[in-house]
Amino acid sequence: MAFKQSLDEIDPDTAEAIDLERERQESTLGMIASENHVSNAVLEAQGSVLTNKYAEGYPGNRYYGGCQHVDTVEELAIERATELFGADHVNVQPHSGTQANMGVYFSVLNPGDKILSLSLSHGGHLSHGHNVNFSGQLYDVEQYEVDPETGYIDYDELENHAREFEPDLIVSGSSAYPREFEYERIGDIADSIDAHHLADIAHVTGLIAAGVHRSPVEHAEFVTGSTHKTIRAGRGGIIMCEEEFADDIDSAVFPGAQGGPLMHNVAGKAAGFAEANTDEFADYAEQMVANAKTLADVFNDRGLSLVSGGTDKHLVLVDLRKSYPDITGKEAEELLSDVGIIVNKNTVPGETRSPMVTSGIRVGSPALTTRGFEKGEIEIVADQMVDVLDNPEDEDVHSRVASTVERLCEEFPIYG
Ligand SMILES: Cc1ncc(COP(=O)(O)O)c(C=O)c1O
Repeated sequence: MAFKQSLDEIDPDTAEAIDLERERQESTLGMIASENHVSNAVLEAQGSVLTNKYAEGYPGNRYYGGCQHVDTVEELAIERATELFGADHVNVQPHSGTQANMGVYFSVLNPGDKILSLSLSHGGHLSHGHNVNFSGQLYDVEQYEVDPETGYIDYDELENHAREFEPDLIVSGSSAYPREFEYERIGDIADSIDAHHLADIAHVTGLIAAGVHRSPVEHAEFVTGSTHKTIRAGRGGIIMCEEEFADDIDSAVFPGAQGGPLMHNVAGKAAGFAEANTDEFADYAEQMVANAKTLADVFNDRGLSLVSGGTDKHLVLVDLRKSYPDITGKEAEELLSDVGIIVNKNTVPGETRSPMVTSGIRVGSPALTTRGFEKGEIEIVADQMVDVLDNPEDEDVHSRVASTVERLCEEFPIYG
């Protein structure tokens, strides 16, 4: 009976693609800052029978019968996130970080309301009001930027901009800004003009959970995040908010923005949050930041230009224009990918090329740190990356780097 057969038997093409993807992850160095490898426990939770269950509503108050066990799972995820982040109220149902942001916008904004957020090419995210995203189409959005000299957010400019524009909501948080946000300052600016503050911690959820990065929870009515990046809790999103907004947030997520929650992903979040509340995870998060700083140190020593000069977190943003005026972000991504080092092209402040080409690469430490990489290995990888960029056409260099990548992958298996 087909129902009881394995994926391999029923759909060898999909099974093969999954095997190949596992093999690709094992045999390359994943340095995309928004990616990570989840534990076997999280994989197990996400691949469970919870995918079968409809559970519209919230624990104890569902539109479907048979929810007693998924209620337990959702309650565990909520309790653990509440403890990890010290939030008043947590909603673990958003399918993604973007849908978490949608939940916040739907809870306190009306179409046409004003949002002030970080510009995409200065490190912001599509869901913060870019015109190709619903957020830019529904709301009136203006953006703040980083100082072109320092690469740091210019908070005075942000404050003046906020006073002039009078937004209903200010968004802090980023995809490619390598520095910590001054959440308190942004919260004060928002308070002073009677705006809400949404801190989108998608990238730094794990760093904040582990206490190695400052938390916005005291300074923002709303905090959103992804659960699959630095926190390794499987693909999904999360919203935290002050108690007074709890009902608005819950109804903005369901029924406002979503139907049935993905309970298998909620189970992944529960398991991942349990892992995040351990000393082992705290050590991991500390190492992740130390590794990104090592990347920055090597890149700086080798003469690369980094946005803001370095990093406070798990990523560095390389501006290729000074050191490699003839190499675009797209070409750098391809050159590195050819030797097994996977990064993504990224726009940089003052970008003149298209987002599909770009003048930068974003390089992250989360996945390599999960593999067990420490200073020594990161130094090797960073040096070899620069060797490739310095010698874009030298096959000998490329094959030496590819061998090093192969050796490191074998020495530090992910699931093997
Ligand atoms: C700051 C920020 N917010 C939101 C998101 C969206 O997350 P998702 O891809 O889960 O929708 C991202 C993703 O990279 C992000 O960097």
